[in-house]
Amino acid sequence: MAVLEQTSSQQAIDLENKYGAHNYHPLPVVLRRGEGVYVWDVEGKKYFDFLSAYSAVNQGHCHPRIVKAMREQAETLTLTSRAFYNDMLGKYEKYACEYFGFDKLLPMNTGAEAVETALKLCRKWAYEKKGISENDAEIVVCENNFHGRTTTIISFSNDPVARKNFGPYTQGFIKIEYDNLNALKETLENNPNVAGFLVEPIQGEAGVYVPSEGYLRQAKELCEKHNVLFIADEVQTGIARTGKLLAVDHENVKPDVLILGKALSGGAYPVSAVLANDAVMEVIKPGNHGSTFGGNPVAAAVAMAALEVIKDEKLAQNAQELGELFRKEISNYIETSSICSLVRGKGLLNAIVINDSEESETAWNICLRLRDNGLLAKPTHGNIIRFAPPLVMNREQLLECVSIITETLKEFEG
Ligand SMILES: Cc1ncc(COP(=O)(O)O)c(C=O)c1O
Repeated sequence: MAVLEQTSSQQAIDLENKYGAHNYHPLPVVLRRGEGVYVWDVEGKKYFDFLSAYSAVNQGHCHPRIVKAMREQAETLTLTSRAFYNDMLGKYEKYACEYFGFDKLLPMNTGAEAVETALKLCRKWAYEKKGISENDAEIVVCENNFHGRTTTIISFSNDPVARKNFGPYTQGFIKIEYDNLNALKETLENNPNVAGFLVEPIQGEAGVYVPSEGYLRQAKELCEKHNVLFIADEVQTGIARTGKLLAVDHENVKPDVLILGKALSGGAYPVSAVLANDAVMEVIKPGNHGSTFGGNPVAAAVAMAALEVIKDEKLAQNAQELGELFRKEISNYIETSSICSLVRGKGLLNAIVINDSEESETAWNICLRLRDNGLLAKPTHGNIIRFAPPLVMNREQLLECVSIITETLKEFEG
C-alpha cells in the first residue's frame, strides 16, 4: 500500500492492530480532519469532539492562529537544541512567566517529562535549600493520581494496570488519600524529610474528582507551614479548562511549582513546562537536566500563539459559563434517569457516572452509541465517562451536544 493511498476506517484500524504496540484501546473511529469543535472520520462523517485529546485541544482543532505560528516558524527554524541560543525561546519564556506570574520556566515536551522535571527540581531544592540529607527527601502524592507513564511516575501510581511488572519502583514517595487534609497534616507533621506535595487540582484520569472547597487552599497553607513545595500538576486542568486560567485559581492558590502541558500548544505540538520562582529554580544548573527538543523555536512560537488565543477569545470565561449550563442540563436529565447517577466537574472538565459496575461494558457501549450519534467521548474508568469538549464551543453547539448525550442515554434506560 502506498503511504499516501487513502485508507478506509477498517484498513486504518487493521494497520494499527498489526503494526502498532497494543498500548491503547481506542474507540473504533478513524479521524482524518479537525476544525474547531468538530472532527471528521475518513468516510466524511462529522463528530463533536468531546474529549479534546485529553484536554490538549482547548483552543479547538487546527486553530488558524496556532497553525499560522507553527507554519511560519517551521519554515524559518525548527530546532537548534540548547547547545545554542535561538531567538524564540527567551521571548516565549518571558511571555509565559508574565502570563502565569512566575520568575522562570523550564521547557520540556510532554506532560510526564514536565512532572519528572518538577520531581527532580523539588528533590534538588530539598537538599540544597531546605537542608534535607542526601537521598532522604520524600514527596507526598495522592491515591488514584495520574501524572504520566515514566518509570518513576508509575512507581507512585496505584493503578495496577499502569504498574504491574514494571518494577523495581522508584523510592521516596508517600501516598495519602486525595482530598483529605488531615492525612496531609499528619504526614507533614510526622515526616520532616518531606520536600514537596504533588497534586492534581482535579483528578482528571481518575474520573474527574473535584476536591472539597478549600482543600487546595488549606493544603497550600500546610505546605507553607512545613516549608514543603506545593507542586500543582495542571497538565489536564490548566489553561482555561476548568473555567479559570488554572484550576488552583478557583481558590487563589499560587503553587511553588506549576506543571503545564497539553493545551500549552493547543494540541498542535508537544509542549510542556515547569514554572517556579528563582528561589526554587536557581538550584538547576547547566547539565542537571534537559531535552533535545525542549524549548525548540517551533514549540516556543506555538505556545505563545496558543496562550494568546486563550486570552483573546476569553476561553476561561466561556468554559465557566458553558460548564455551568452543561451540568445544569445533565442534572435535569439525571433526575429521572436510572442509567446515569451523577454529573460532576468544573468548567468544561466534566464526567458522568453510569449506574453500573466498574467492570461493566455499559459506559463503553454508551460511547459507541454516542459515536454513532455524532459525538466522541471515552470512559476514564469503567463506569465513568469524561466530557471535555474544546473550549471554543458556543452555547448552541453545547445544547446540541447535551441533546445527543441525553437521547443516547435514553437508549440505555432500563
Ligand atoms: C494530570 C496529568 N499529568 C500528566 C499527564 C501526562 O501527560 P503526557 O501524556 O503528555 O505525558 C497527564 C496526561 O493525561 C495528566 O492528565
